[in-house]
Amino acid sequence: MNISAGDFSLITDNEVQNRAPMNRTIVLTQEERERLSISLIKDIPVESFKLPPQGTIHGDSIQISGKLPKSFVDLIFLDPPYNLTKDFHGQVFSKRSVEEYTAWLDNLLTAFKSLLKPTASIYICGDWYSSASIFTAASNHFIIRNRITWEREKGRGAKSNWKNSSEDIWFCTMSDNYYFNVDAVKLRRKVIAPYRNGDGTPKDWQETKEGSFRDTHPSNIWTDITIPFWSMAENTMHPTQKSEKLLAKLILASTKPDDFVFDPFLGSGTSSVVAKKLNRRYLGIEQNQEYCLLAEKRLELTETNKEIQGFSDGLFWERNTLSSQMKENYSPTRGACVKK
Ligand SMILES: C[S@@+](CC[C@H](N)C(=O)[O-])C[C@H]1O[C@@H](n2cnc3c(N)ncnc32)[C@H](O)[C@@H]1O
Repeated sequence: MNISAGDFSLITDNEVQNRAPMNRTIVLTQEERERLSISLIKDIPVESFKLPPQGTIHGDSIQISGKLPKSFVDLIFLDPPYNLTKDFHGQVFSKRSVEEYTAWLDNLLTAFKSLLKPTASIYICGDWYSSASIFTAASNHFIIRNRITWEREKGRGAKSNWKNSSEDIWFCTMSDNYYFNVDAVKLRRKVIAPYRNGDGTPKDWQETKEGSFRDTHPSNIWTDITIPFWSMAENTMHPTQKSEKLLAKLILASTKPDDFVFDPFLGSGTSSVVAKKLNRRYLGIEQNQEYCLLAEKRLELTETNKEIQGFSDGLFWERNTLSSQMKENYSPTRGACVKK
C-alpha cells in the first residue's frame, strides 16, 4: 500500500536528518505512514456503529456523527477551525461573516449533541473573534457555565491594533447534573507573600527545599500554558496544535477514569493522547490523513511515555518551573526526574 503525504509533505526525511539536535518534533516516516494507516478506523458501517469505537476515524466528523451511537460521550472537546482563513495541510477553511460562522457552528453542535450523555461537559475553543459566535451557538444547545481565557504567548505583533495573545475555551454542560473535580486541577504557584500564622507556621502554603508553594484553585484565566514548540516532546507540525497540559486540565476536571472523551476536530491527536495517558476512553475524527497518522503515532508513543509536560505529582505547575518539578520528584536511586 502506498500512503503518501500528498503534495504537502510536512517535513522531508532529509530535513529530519539535518535538524537541530534539540528539535523533538514528531514526524512520520514513510514506513510509519503505511503501518499506522492500518490502525485508522476507515470502515464506517452502512447503518451505524453498535458500540462507540475507540481510536481515530479518518473522515468528515459532521457526516460520521450520524453513524455513531447515541449518548456515549462524557466530554466533547471542540477545537474547530476558527473564523479565520487557515490552511490545514491542503484543506483550507475560509473566513466568513459572523452570522455564517455562527450558523456553521450551530449546525455542528446539532450534529454532535445526540452523542452526548445527559451529564456530559462540552468545551469549545475559539479566538476573540470566534467567541461571540460560540456563545450564540452554544446557548442554543447547552448551559453555558464559564469562559476560560488562556494566554497564548505566540501572538503576532500588530502595528495598528493590540497584539492578539489570548484564546477562549467555553465551558458548557448538557444539564445541571455534571461532574467537576476541582481538586484534580490545582495549580502550584510560587508564593510571593509568605504570610504566617500566629505560631509561625505557613498560612495556606508549603515550605520545601525548592521554595515556597501554594496549591491554588484554578481560575478562568490561565497563564501557565505553553504552545507546543520544536524542543517539546509533544510538538508536531500541525499549525494549531493545543498543548497536552491544556487538555489534561479539562479532562481531569470533567471526567473520571474510563469516561469517554470525543474530539471531532482531532488535528494532531492531543485530546486522544491525553485521554489515553489519563486512562480515559477516546475517539477522534480528523479529515486529514496526515494528521490522523500523527495522532496514531502520538498514541503509540504513549505506550512508553505517559508524561504530560507541566503536570506532575498530581499538580499543574506554572511555566518555567521544570527544575523545581524535577527536584520535587528527584529519585536518588535512579538519579532522574521520576514522573508519578
Ligand atoms: C483547530 S484544529 C484542531 C487541533 C487539535 N486540537 C490539536 O491539538 O492538534 C482543527 C482540525 O479540524 C480538522 N477539520 C476541519 N473540518 C473537519 C471536519 N469536518 N471533520 C473532521 N476534521 C475536520 C482540520 O483538518 C484541523 O486539523
